[in-house]
Parts: sequence; structure tokens; C-alpha cells
Amino acid sequence: MLNVVSAPIQSVKKLLAALTLSVVFISACSDNSGNQNTSSSNSDLEAKAGKFGLTAWEYENGVGPIKQKLNIGNSIDEVMAKSGEQIFETKCMACHKIDERYVGPALKGVVERRTPEYVMNMILDPADMTQKHPEAKKMLAQYATQMTFQNVSQEDARKILEYLRSVSK
Ligand code: HEC
Repeated sequence: MLNVVSAPIQSVKKLLAALTLSVVFISACSDNSGNQNTSSSNSDLEAKAGKFGLTAWEYENGVGPIKQKLNIGNSIDEVMAKSGEQIFETKCMACHKIDERYVGPALKGVVERRTPEYVMNMILDPADMTQKHPEAKKMLAQYATQMTFQNVSQEDARKILEYLRSVSK
């Protein structure tokens, strides 16, 4: 009688213990990696960014209307990319080619040198970017033409970004 009752209780206890352990383990892991990232590289980044009057976030992601990380997964949204390609053709091709330098830099691989948020800010506020961000400033000096805002909505900029992600793969 006793055995019949206590056996399931024992296994429930074991299960609970295992669950608790794994929760502790998982949260310890994620805490750790988060802390390492912020403590070592962030203070370097902050110091660098500070020299240009930027926050670490702005240094990585540019200045402009995009002030938070976008939620971007690994896969490409083909429909969005296709529509971005069309917008790119009408609004950007006067100055940009994908594979080679033109009035502005080649944009293939831009998503590898810059964060998605940086690319969006460059599209949405190129004037602020070339005045305030050291990388964009450098590019302005190199290309000697100011990229101008092409009246692109945030939604359309996101589509162009998807297109640029698709050609960079
Ligand atoms: C008048 C020409 C011109 C137009 C139009 C133009 N750009 Fe640019 N773009 C440039 C130049 C030149 C640069 C380099 C920075 C500068 O000098 O302003 C640049 C820089 C960029 C960068 C940053 C590249 C990097 O490596 O950091 C991105 C991204 C970009 N352009 C995307 C676009 C997109 C998308 C469009 C269309 C919505 C567009 N540009 C329209 C000339 C232009």
C-alpha cells in the first residue's frame, strides 16, 4: 500500500528536482553570456562611441528614426525582398549598384559590414548619419557626394533592407 502511493510521489519529486536544476542551469548560462558581452565589449564600445558624441547603441546602429533593435530572423522574406527590389530600382539605382561602386558604394554585403538598424537609419536619415556617424562621415569623404533622403517610408526601407539582405547571401 505504502509503496504504491510513494512510488509516484518519488518520481514526481525527482522530476521536479530535475526541472528546477535545468531552469537554474539555463538561466545561469544566459545570464553569463549576457554579462560577458555587456561588461567587456560594451565599455570599449562606449568609450569609442563617446569620442564621437554617440552612445554605444548609436555607434553600432546609426542615428536616425530607428532607435531599437528590429526583430529580424535568419530567413529572408522573399515577398518583402521582391517589393524592396522594385523600390530600390526606382529610388536608389541612380546612385547605387549592387556589385560595383557607382556614385555611392556597392551595396552587396552591406548587411555584413553594418547592422540592419544602421542600414535603415542610413536610408531614412542620410544627412544626420553623414554628419554624426564616423563611418558614414568617412564614406561621405570617400564618395564626395551626399546621399539624399529619397522619401522612403519606414516600411519601404524595411523592404529595401530585405532586398539587400537577399543579395548579400
Ligand atoms: C544621390 C545619390 C544617392 C542616392 C539616390 C542614394 N544613395 Fe545611398 N549612398 C550614396 C553615397 C554617396 C553614399 C556614401 C555616403 C555619402 O557620401 O553620403 C551612400 C551610402 C549608402 C549606404 C551606406 C553604405 C555603407 O556601407 O555604410 C546605404 C545602406 C545606402 N546608401 C543605401 C541607399 C538606398 C537603399 C537608397 C535608395 C533608397 C540610396 N542609398 C539612395 C549615394 C546615394
